[in-house]
Amino acid sequence: MKFFVDTADTNEIRDLAATGLLDGVTTNPSLVLKSGKNFIPLIEEICGIVDGPVSAEVAATDYETMWKEADKLRQIADHVAVKVPLTPAGLKVCKKLSDEGTMVNVTLCFSAAQAILAAKAGAAFISPFVGRLDDVGEEGMNLIADIVEIYANYPNFQTEVLVASIRNPMHIVNSAKLGADVITCPPSVIRQLYQHPLTDKGLANFVEDWKKTGQSIL
Ligand code: E4P
Repeated sequence: MKFFVDTADTNEIRDLAATGLLDGVTTNPSLVLKSGKNFIPLIEEICGIVDGPVSAEVAATDYETMWKEADKLRQIADHVAVKVPLTPAGLKVCKKLSDEGTMVNVTLCFSAAQAILAAKAGAAFISPFVGRLDDVGEEGMNLIADIVEIYANYPNFQTEVLVASIRNPMHIVNSAKLGADVITCPPSVIRQLYQHPLTDKGLANFVEDWKKTGQSIL
C-alpha cells in the first residue's frame, strides 16, 4: 500500500519524507490557499522533495482552459499527476493526457459509476472521498469495496484506487483490508498510525529497566 500525504505544507512534506515511508503527495485548491504560497513554485518545490507522484489540480471547469492548465502543470516535472475533477470536461482532459503518457488523478469521486468512467478514461488514480461520504451519513468505505471489486473484474483497467478524504487511522486500516492501492491523508493522521498507549508504557518500562542494568550497548 502506498502512502501519500494530503497537504501543501512543505515543512510537513519534508518531515514525512525523511521517514522513508512517503510515496507521494496530493494537493488541492483549498490546501494551496491554506499554504499561502504561489501555486506553480509550490508544486515545483514539492516535486523537489518527493520522487513519487505529486498531484496538482487544475482550476478551470471548461475543457479548453482545463487542457491548457493541465498542459502547463505536467511540464513542471515528470512525476506530476494532473488532478482533474470527475466531470465530462475533466474526463476528456484525462483521456487525452493519459493517451500522451501523463499521470492523471481523477478527484471528487463519490460513486462506483464515476470510478468506472475514470478507469475507462485511463486515469492513473481514482480518488474516492470516504470522509465526505461519512459526513453526509453514507458509509464511505462501502464505495472503496465496490470500486476495488469492480476494478478486479477488469485486468485491463490500470487505475489505482487512491482513498482520499481520510479522517482517521481506521479509514487506512479498512482501506488496506479491502486492498486499496493508495491512501492520502493529512500529516496528523499518518502520525496517529504510530501511536498505541501500550507501546509508550512498554517502552517506558524497558528504558527504566535498561538503566538499572548499568550497561551500555555502544
Ligand atoms: C484528495 O486528493 C483531497 O485533496 C482530499 O483528500 C480531500 O480531503 P477532505 O475531505 O478532508 O478535504
